Amino acid sequence: MDFKIQTTAIDELAGVGVDALVVVLGGDALPKGLDGRIARHAEAAIKLGDFALKAGQALTLTQAEGVKAPRLVLAASGALTLAAARAAFAAALAQIKPRGVSSAAVAFVGFDAALTEALAEQTALAASEAVYLYRHTKPSAPAAPKLAKLALLVGKADAKAAKAGLARGEAIAAGIELARECANRPANYATPSYLGDVVLGLGKRHGLKVEVLDRKAIEKLGMGSFLAVAQGSEEPPRFIVARYDGAAKSVAPVVLVGKGITFDTGGISLKPGAEMDEMKFDMGGAAGVIGTLRAVAELKPKLNLVMIVAACENMPSGRAVKPGDVVTSMSGQTIEILNTDAEGRLILCDALTYAERFKPAVVVDVATLTGACVIALGGVRSGMYASDDELAASLSAAGEAALDPCWRLPLDDEYAEGLKSNFADVANIAGRAGGSITAAKFLQRFASKYRWGHLDIAGTAWKGGAAKGATGRPVGLLTHFVLSHAK
Ligand code: BES
Ligand code: MN
Ligand code: ZN
Repeated sequence: MDFKIQTTAIDELAGVGVDALVVVLGGDALPKGLDGRIARHAEAAIKLGDFALKAGQALTLTQAEGVKAPRLVLAASGALTLAAARAAFAAALAQIKPRGVSSAAVAFVGFDAALTEALAEQTALAASEAVYLYRHTKPSAPAAPKLAKLALLVGKADAKAAKAGLARGEAIAAGIELARECANRPANYATPSYLGDVVLGLGKRHGLKVEVLDRKAIEKLGMGSFLAVAQGSEEPPRFIVARYDGAAKSVAPVVLVGKGITFDTGGISLKPGAEMDEMKFDMGGAAGVIGTLRAVAELKPKLNLVMIVAACENMPSGRAVKPGDVVTSMSGQTIEILNTDAEGRLILCDALTYAERFKPAVVVDVATLTGACVIALGGVRSGMYASDDELAASLSAAGEAALDPCWRLPLDDEYAEGLKSNFADVANIAGRAGGSITAAKFLQRFASKYRWGHLDIAGTAWKGGAAKGATGRPVGLLTHFVLSHAK
């Protein structure tokens, strides 16, 4: 989509010539200074009971007198928050989406000027979300909505902030789109090699250094834990490393690590059949860090970023790893695999060890790691862990700013009790209690050499049911987090 900023005073909105003019009304009274021609229509609709200044309300008026655009969409946010404004704009988009609208403009009125940059960012994100359509294996799907041009209308004083926000929003939207597309593609399309090709493509386009290691190279690195998961599948594993260098070599990089299980059957500890198809989304962490790499590469901030993806399938077979098998991780620690379905931590632990070589400023791994996290936090907030309070605060803040929120969970050593093994340095599962936390405690053993954060996105990376599909989370959170390291 083509986005632009257009400076227009709020008392001149009715003169904007587009297919649809969207006015997002903030607060519970019509904002002062609003173009009288629009205010009159809003007042009349409120009087008639067709519209109210309450969250969720959106109304399309056609050929409204005195308004140049043939469609005037009024959308109320209720609260004056960023989240409420985005929701109102999304409701307006839902109204114009089925119509033949190819150009639209939106104005947010009544909001604090300090929100301008974030509103601009969310404008790009909401519009991109509205027009995204999965088609790769369903070419018969109706063509993508026609909305091709969107102008954000702001006052002169806000133009600079709006431009910055829009640029960030467009980059994050591109990252989210890539993450969704990767995750939505079925496991027979989105294989480990495919993910490698996607990153190689990004590298070519943006001048990034990319390495895609095959099974032999992974063996050479001594990643016995990662390979134990990969060994049950005919599909070859890939270890993918990409570098974005935007600052001097001496600047320690931010390292992002993604779980790239392109399909999780559970292995010999086979999962039940119901909804197993959704385990194609088990590379949501990989999709999230790949999308973030794209967003960052487009924005070109002054920082260094390394992205690591460990990708393979988790399959049962005559060669598959078995419950009770002991493997040696790249760190040298031995692991008793008591449940082959706790495979995410087994591939991530070797990737975390590999990350040491970059002498990172911070490492954040991202994984659809545990069903327990879905039970704890549902689909609203990702689970977040951090080795120190400052890092936790920074991940939290990034999530809030991006409307991609997370919630910190604890790392008390007592949670690691259940990971003890009589046959190895550590077992890969503890009991059922606190399952997301015990998984994080397992990972923490391999992340002791640097500041470390971990996001359990099992509940947030995709939606099930009728709206089944990848969300592109946590590209927003991660991009904000990475950008906060720019010099
Ligand atoms: N990929 C799953 C986690 C998952 C399950 C994400 C459901 C989203 C929805 C992971 O590999 C897994 O199977 N975890 C097990 C761990 C258990 C065996 C300790 C789980 O959560 O059941
Ligand atoms: Mn599993
Ligand atoms: Zn998994």
